[in-house]
Amino acid sequence: MAVFGVPTLEDLPPLAGRSVLVRVDFNVPIRDGVITDDLRIRAASPTLQWLQAQGAARVVACSHLGRPKGKPDPAFSMDPVRARLAELAPGVELAENLRFDAGEEADDPAFAARLVEGFDAYVNDAFGASHRAHASIVGPPRTLPSAAGRLLAREVEVLLGVRNEPRRPFVAILGGSKVSDKLGVIEALLDVCDTLLVGGAMCFTFFAAQGRSVGSSLCETDMLDTCRDLLAKAGDRLLLPEDVTALGPGGKLFDPAAGGEVRQTGASLPEGWMGVDVGPGTAAAYGDVIREARTVLWNGPMGAFEDPRFASGTRAVAEAVADCGGFTVIGGGDSAAAVAEFGLEDRIDHVSTGGGASLELIEQGDLPGLAALRQAPNA
Ligand code: 3PG
Repeated sequence: MAVFGVPTLEDLPPLAGRSVLVRVDFNVPIRDGVITDDLRIRAASPTLQWLQAQGAARVVACSHLGRPKGKPDPAFSMDPVRARLAELAPGVELAENLRFDAGEEADDPAFAARLVEGFDAYVNDAFGASHRAHASIVGPPRTLPSAAGRLLAREVEVLLGVRNEPRRPFVAILGGSKVSDKLGVIEALLDVCDTLLVGGAMCFTFFAAQGRSVGSSLCETDMLDTCRDLLAKAGDRLLLPEDVTALGPGGKLFDPAAGGEVRQTGASLPEGWMGVDVGPGTAAAYGDVIREARTVLWNGPMGAFEDPRFASGTRAVAEAVADCGGFTVIGGGDSAAAVAEFGLEDRIDHVSTGGGASLELIEQGDLPGLAALRQAPNA
C-alpha cells in the first residue's frame, strides 16, 4: 500500500528468483575501523530480510560512506560495514562506496545505467540520503519497478504525520549552532507547532537580535534582522533560554584541563564569556512544557553535550522527552546521538535515522527520493 503516494514493498512485482538493488544509508560513524553506532544498519535489516524471504535470488545493498571526492579512497572503505551487515542480514551483498564514482553525486545517467544493470527491481530504504538527488536515489526508479523499504516508509509516515496532523499541544525543540542552518525548518515549524523551544548556540543570535550582550558566544550577525522577524511572527510561542551555562575567559571547550571558570549567567552574557549550554532554570522550564505535550519533535542538542561540563541541559531535555506520555520523535543527527548516550532511546517513540533528511522533510513536506519513487513504472 502506497504511503503518501510512494509505492511500498507490496507494490513490487513477484521477486522469486529476481535480483533486487537496495539503496540504504549505511553512512555510519566509524572510529579506528570500528562502527560506533550501527542504528542505520539495524534499521534497514528488516527490509533486506523481507526481500530474501520473498525468494529473491540476489539482494545487493549499496550506500555512500563519508564524503570521498569521487574516486576510491581506502579511508572510506565499506569493509567494517560489510562485516556488520553479514551478521545482521547474512547473504545480502554490499557494493563498494557509491561516492567512489563522481557520477553518483552528479546524477550521471551513465553511472545510473551501470548501477541498475542486471537488476529487476529497486528499493530505496535510505531515508537519511533521500534528500540528495544523487544517481542511486533518483536514477533507478526511472527504469526499474521501485518501492520504499520499511524504514523509509515508516520515517515518512511518522515525520509527515507529525508535520501535517500533530496531536496538540505540539511542542518542537530546536538546538544546534546556527540559525542559518535551521531557518527553513524554524519557519515551517512555526506554522504548525504550539510552542517552539530554542536552545543550542543558535539562541545567542536571537539574544543579540533582542539587543542583549552575548559575550564571546557564537553569533551570526547577518541573521539579526531575520531573527527579529521570526520573534515578531512567533510571539509568545517561541521560547528562549532564561539562563545559560557559560565558560569564562581562557577556558577551552572539550578540554576541562585547560581551566576556565564555568558559571550560570542570565540571558545577557558578560564580556569574554561564552554560552555553551542552557542553564538549570531553562532546563526545568522546558522540561515542564515538554512533559505536558501530546506531540514532541526534537532536533539539535541544547549545548555542547559531548563536554560533560555542558551536558546537563541536553540531558534534562532528553529525560523530559523520555518521560512525556505523548508521541515523541527525535529528528536524527546529534540529538539521536545524545539520547543514545544517555541510554534513553528505548523510551522515545521514533528516533529518525536521518539528520538533514528529516529537517528537509519537515521543511518541504517532500524529498527528491520520494518524488522519484512516485514516478516509478509500477507507481
Ligand atoms: C547523513 O549522514 O546525513 C546522510 O548519510 C547524508 O550524508 P551527506 O550529508 O554526506 O550527503
